Amino acid sequence: MRKPVLSALIATATLLVSGQVLAYGVGDIYTRVGIAKVSPKDDNGTLAGTLDVDVQDDSGFAFTLGYRFHDKLGVELLAAEPFDHDIKLNGSNLASTEHLPPTLTLQYYPMGGTASRVQPYAGVGVNYTHFMDEELDGGPELKLDNSWGAAGQLGVDLLIDEHWALNAAAWYLDIDTDAELGGSDIGEVEIDPIVVMGGISLRF
Ligand code: NI
Repeated sequence: MRKPVLSALIATATLLVSGQVLAYGVGDIYTRVGIAKVSPKDDNGTLAGTLDVDVQDDSGFAFTLGYRFHDKLGVELLAAEPFDHDIKLNGSNLASTEHLPPTLTLQYYPMGGTASRVQPYAGVGVNYTHFMDEELDGGPELKLDNSWGAAGQLGVDLLIDEHWALNAAAWYLDIDTDAELGGSDIGEVEIDPIVVMGGISLRF
């Protein structure tokens, strides 16, 4: 083969390979894995007219599953091990609850389909929070209703290669739950947390 042809072929092959390395978009199935911190908002409401509620932070293992059905659009489900929150009532650590907050978002990737190694994204969607193991020191049975609410999300992948990326993401979840004490309604707890997660992304 003549030299100019050979170098043209090599240049084309290099372009194709680097294109594959940086392909980030339609058809990707991805999982993001990391540690998430759930920080409820400061004022979580008042129960039974007298109990000031303050739900504490918790951190734990979380992961997501996602699919890109377009270079710039994807869907992602956030899952986690149950988070376990202490609950202060009038300043004293008297109660606790566990919950699972699966969240589904529709995401927009402004740099999707380009060679950018910095790939930010934003999403909107819905959160379902399942409460379990509510406990109240020395009191009647405390129960928190499961909650449906809106969710928002911001995140960024920093691409390392065609499969791996560093990831940081945050969600806002609108979690409002009705509380019952010994079977009677005593009001609403507004948890409305920010969830911040740091970890890695893996794409297939
Ligand atoms: Ni709310």
